[in-house]
Formats: sequence, structure tokens, C-alpha cells
Amino acid sequence: MLKSTVMTNSLIKSGWESPSNIALIKYWGKFGKQMPHNPSVSFTLSAAATRTFVDISEGNNGDPIDLNFVFNGSKNEKFASRINKFLNSISDEYFPFVKKYKLNIDTSNSFPHSSGIASSASGMSALALCLCDIENLLNGKQLYDNDFYRKASVISRLGSGSACRSVFPEIAVWGRHENISGSSNEYAIPANTELHPVFKSFHDDILIISAQEKSVSSTAGHNLMENNPFAKVRYNQANLRMEMMMKALKSGDISAFGKITEDEALTLHALMMCSDPSYILLKEGSLTVINKVKAFRDQTTIPLYFTLDAGPNVHLLYPDEYENQVNIFIQEELKPFCHEGKIIRDKVGSGPVKIC
Ligand code: DP6
Repeated sequence: MLKSTVMTNSLIKSGWESPSNIALIKYWGKFGKQMPHNPSVSFTLSAAATRTFVDISEGNNGDPIDLNFVFNGSKNEKFASRINKFLNSISDEYFPFVKKYKLNIDTSNSFPHSSGIASSASGMSALALCLCDIENLLNGKQLYDNDFYRKASVISRLGSGSACRSVFPEIAVWGRHENISGSSNEYAIPANTELHPVFKSFHDDILIISAQEKSVSSTAGHNLMENNPFAKVRYNQANLRMEMMMKALKSGDISAFGKITEDEALTLHALMMCSDPSYILLKEGSLTVINKVKAFRDQTTIPLYFTLDAGPNVHLLYPDEYENQVNIFIQEELKPFCHEGKIIRDKVGSGPVKIC
């Protein structure tokens, strides 16, 4: 009922589906207004995505932001207040229309909220794309050019750093690197022309080891880097690894790619363990799975590699040609360590899609 009421009064509506992404070189540590201390690169995913519809209508009741927010079909106060805060922080500089109209945001994830998968990258990028689209439509434009995606990336970043990489297909780089032309701290850039074909159909099977909410948020984790004694060394290391990773991605060197990817995942968690206060997000199941993946690779020579985000879930990355063998291994050996046997089978994807 709510939807149809809003749609009748709706002045302009935009809908986007935007995917999550998995970082290969990790963003960990930020300064200023959501600027990264080091460059990062990620695969854009496909199955794990957020669909968001935003419409604006006349009749703002005078509140600074007049927002009706629906998540997965129901009201969600926690998310609504985060979105409200975000909209407030960007409206004056980027989208004055946000305070002029009534806003209706209807958003849902393709993956269950209780799956432990971070939804901020897909969620914030989907919202940013809708806002940029509405701004264009208000100005009588419907142009999805480089400037459009660049602005969407800036706005996504302000919502959640890693989200700025989700607006581009296949692979995106975020953060200034002296040897990556066009790279910037303010937005991500597409890097798909620098990607060897073998990576374009890479799989990412996400093993849900725990569905619990994280004990330490990403933002709190980033902030702890400020006093981490290894911070400077880490930022230098990320710059060096970035260069090696971009070479491996371009040449199709899967074993170099895999080694750097795994080293990055373990470095990320090591940084958490040596923060003050220290904390551990890995679970016993994460470690068991990691060890089993390494043993499987040694025994079979199949290039199956793991990575981790800021949580216990394990992402398994591998080339398309090994899908069957890897699937048998996962079902037989790894599934028992997954929460309720949950696995999200994802792949490198082609980026956000306008759905309305
Ligand atoms: C470990 O982007 O979630 O996934 O900017 O505070 O929203 P905020 O943090 P967020 O951090 C993601 C960290 C990471 C690595 C990565 O995606 O690069």
C-alpha cells in the first residue's frame, strides 16, 4: 500500500542494483573525510547485491530531511538513522534537493541480512547511484557517462569507503598510487581494461562461517590504525603490493595474484590483532577452512585461494575452469564449517544496473 501511495505522488523515481565487492589489496586506515591511507583494488561481485529505489515527492514537512525508509520490506530504525545522518552530511554540498522534497527509499539485499555479509558497499553504492540519477533527472539529463559514475563513486565513498569501488565493472582501484595513472583518494577508477581475461570469470564462493554481527565495526577498526605501531610500514607495504597485484592481474599470473591476495587477508587480521585494544574477528572455523584450502592447493595444484574481509567469513577465489572440482571440495570438506551450511556462490560481475 505504502509503495503505491508514494508512487502516485512521486515526482521522480530512480532504482539501481549495485553489487558488493571483495578487496584484493585491502583499505584499512582512513583520514579526513573518508580518505584511505593506502590504495586498494577489488573485484566487483555479482550475486551479492543491493536493490534500491529512491523517489522524491512534493510536501517536505519542514524537517531538514523528510525520509521514509524501508529495508527488506519493513521499517528499520537503525539503518534509517544511518541513512539520515549520511544524507544530512552530503545534502548541502552535493544534493540540495534532498532537503527540498519528501524522500522515499526502499532497499533490499539479494543476500539474507543475517548472513554476516557486509552490505555497506552494495547498499551505499546503490543509494549513491539513485541520488546522482535523480539529480540528473531534475536537471533534465539522462546521461550515464564517466562523470556520472565518478560522482557516484565520490558519494558512495562518503557513505562507506569500500563502496566507491562497487560502481565499476569487474575491477576497480581506489586511492592515490604514484604509478597508477588517474588514481585518486576521492573516487575509484575502473581498471577492467587492465584485467587479464582469466580473472573476468573468476569465482568468489563466500563461506559464511558466522552470521553474528561483528564485535568491532569497520569504522572502529580503521580508527585503531591511527595508533597502530605498524601503520606506516603497512601503508608502504600496501603500495608495493598494489603494484605487484596490478601486474599479476594484467598478465594473468594467477599464482602471484593468489599469494598477494592471501598475504593481504592475513595482514588485515594481523593488524587487528596488534591494535590497541587488540581484537580477533577470525573464528576457529575460519582457520580450519584456511588450512584446508592450503592443503587442497598443495595436493591438487588447483589454484584455489582465500581472502577475508573484516570478519570471519572466508572468500574462495578460483578460475572458472576448476568450478566442478572446487565445488566438490567445498561440499565435502568445507561446508560443515559454515553456519547452517551457508555458502554464497558469487563471481566477478559487470557492475551496477539501472532498474528503474
Ligand atoms: C576490510 O568500507 O566498510 O573490507 O569506510 O568505515 O565504511 P568504512 O569502512 P569499510 O571498510 C572495508 C574494509 C575492508 C577492506 C576493503 O574493502 O578494502
